[in-house]
Parts: sequence; C-alpha cells; structure tokens
Amino acid sequence: MSDEKTQVEAARTSFTTDFARFVDLNPAGSSLSDAEALLREVSELKVRHTGKKSAIAATKKLIGKVPAEERGEFGQLVKSVENEITSGISGAEARLNEYISRARTERDRLDVTLPGRRPPLGHLHPITLVREKIEDIFVSMGYAIEDDREIETDYYNFDALNIPEGHPARESQDTFYTTTGLALRSQTSTVQIRAMERRGVPIRILAPGRVFRRDTPDMTHTPMFHQLEGLCVDKGITMAHLKGTVTEWLRRLFDQDTKTRFRPSYFPFTEPSAEFDFSCFKCHGTGKYEDARCRPCKGSGWIELGGSGMVHPNVLRAVGADPQVYSGFAFGFGVERMAALMYEIDDIRYLFENDVRFLEQFA
Ligand code: DAH
Repeated sequence: MSDEKTQVEAARTSFTTDFARFVDLNPAGSSLSDAEALLREVSELKVRHTGKKSAIAATKKLIGKVPAEERGEFGQLVKSVENEITSGISGAEARLNEYISRARTERDRLDVTLPGRRPPLGHLHPITLVREKIEDIFVSMGYAIEDDREIETDYYNFDALNIPEGHPARESQDTFYTTTGLALRSQTSTVQIRAMERRGVPIRILAPGRVFRRDTPDMTHTPMFHQLEGLCVDKGITMAHLKGTVTEWLRRLFDQDTKTRFRPSYFPFTEPSAEFDFSCFKCHGTGKYEDARCRPCKGSGWIELGGSGMVHPNVLRAVGADPQVYSGFAFGFGVERMAALMYEIDDIRYLFENDVRFLEQFA
C-alpha cells in the first residue's frame, strides 16, 4: 500500500508546486488584462490537476486494488488530497472572477451626470476687434459702414482720386496687377469714389477693408493690410468738423483726456492735407511709463496715426458733386498699426501667421 500512497503524495506535490504562485494571490493592483491572463492559467491548472487524465484521477483507480482493510483509509487520503486541489483552485478562481468583474464594471462606468464636453469656442481676431470697436463709434455718430471691392481699375485707385498717370504718389503705392490691367487696391480711398457715385452727396461713411502694396514684409510692413477710411461730405463742412470728429472718435476709443494734433502734409485727394497724431493712451502724453520710456509712443507722448484733409475739389468733380456747394473731409489709417499699438505687438506679421498660441491672447 505504500506505493499507492506515494502516488497520492506525488499528485499532491505536483499540484502544490504548480499552484504555489496562486496560493496567496491578491489580484488588487493588477490590470484587467493581467487578471484575465491569470484566470486562464488557473483554468489550465484545473484541467491538468482535476481532469480525467490527472494524477489524482489515476489514484482513484487504485482504491479497488488496495487490500480491503486498508481501503477505507486510502480512500479518505485520496479524497482529502482531491479536496485540497479543488478547493485551492476554486478559491483562486473566485478571487480572480470577483476582481475581473469589478474591474470590468469600473472600465465601463459611465457617469451620466457629468457635463458634456463643450466644443472649443473661437474668438475674434485682433484686427476684427479693433475694426469693430471703431465701427461702433462711427455708427453712433451717424456714419454708414461701406464695404467695397478689393480688385479695382486704375481709375478708382488713382485717377478719380486726383492721382493722374505719372504722379509720384502712384509709385509709393505700387500694388499687384492682373494680366487684364486690373489692380488690387492700394488704399481704401477708392471707396470714397465708389460710395459717392452710388449714394451721391451728402454722405457719411466709414469704409474698412483690405489693401495691397508691393512691399517686402518686415516688422511694420506686409503686402496685405487693412485700412479704415472715413468720408463726410455735406454743405458747410470745414476742417473744424474733421478735427472734432477725429478727436471725439479717439476720446471714445481711449480716454476722454486724449488730445489730437494735426500736422500739415500732402495727399493728392485732399487740400489742405494733414497727418493726425493723438496723445499716447498708455502714458497720457507724458512719454514715461513706470519710470521708463513709454513703449507705444517711444517716449514722445504722441502717436502718429493717419492721413486726413479736406476732400479735393477734383475728387468731388469726379463724382459729379459741385465743389462750390459741397465740401467734406476724409481720413484714413492702417488697422494693423493701431492693433499693434493697442496690444503692444512688436511685429505685425504675427497677425497673419494664424498661430493659435499668439491669437489666444485676444480671447
Ligand atoms: N489713402 C491714404 C494712404 O493710404 C491715407 C489717407 C490720407 C486717406 C488722407 C484719406 C486722406 O482719406 O484724406 O496712405
């Protein structure tokens, strides 16, 4: 009978060795897929140690062969080893199954009370922000916003604006031409002509838009940029109206104590002509900010903004308005320059690179 007992012991030892790593198995902390792999290993163990071809199954066949007086004891030994094996395995299975089921629930958990994901919201470009602020001010002063074409004929870009062929002003406003003789407008002043032809006079318009010039890009130049053009024509309009309007606009945009300054200048479509400056919005004209040279005005206290003047009689004549009856003022300036000043942007090319890291600052 000792041979048979040895076989039972061998079956137990083989199981104990194979099962050693599952005895104190604690699946906590393992991943779901690791726990699933462990469960598959336990199933294989189960087949090997409890199946029909297992060592313990073989010992059962010996029960009938041991002498009758030892059969009871031997049978009990087989039974107890078999129990040891099956309970070990089912314990490990139970622990793994419970862990796996909890891990699956956790993985598939859906919190229906969570708020939805908002689609990221865009915002306006700094050029648009500045343009809209200024448009609002002029609309409140009775101006209409006038939009017009970017592709123009020489007539609207130059001739009607009192810039005949051969005039030196054409050279500084060289632009891009199509093969059919059309040009990308180099100034929004074209809209003065278009609007007066369409609406006649009296008229009050603000014309924002893109303009183009044959320029090499640098920190302050891009071959495409934006201008805002203002035009007011009526009976009895004087330079005082120009100064009052520009001053009121800049006061509303920046500060009630903003001062303006007009310097004599020359533009073909105005007579007299003036460039206009305003006292710096940052240092309020002192030239100093936090004990250092103020940046936007470079310490001068003044910021040069644009051109202006009294509409030239030839421009009025070009649209069929009588300069003896009507007079008007006009002005124009670059929006990029204004945005660069207001937001302290050193290089206006950033405005067109569409880099969200730059643009996000203006949200
Ligand atoms: N068109 C001019 C430019 O591009 C700016 C300008 C100056 C517009 C005087 C005007 C004006 O309406 O009166 O440089």
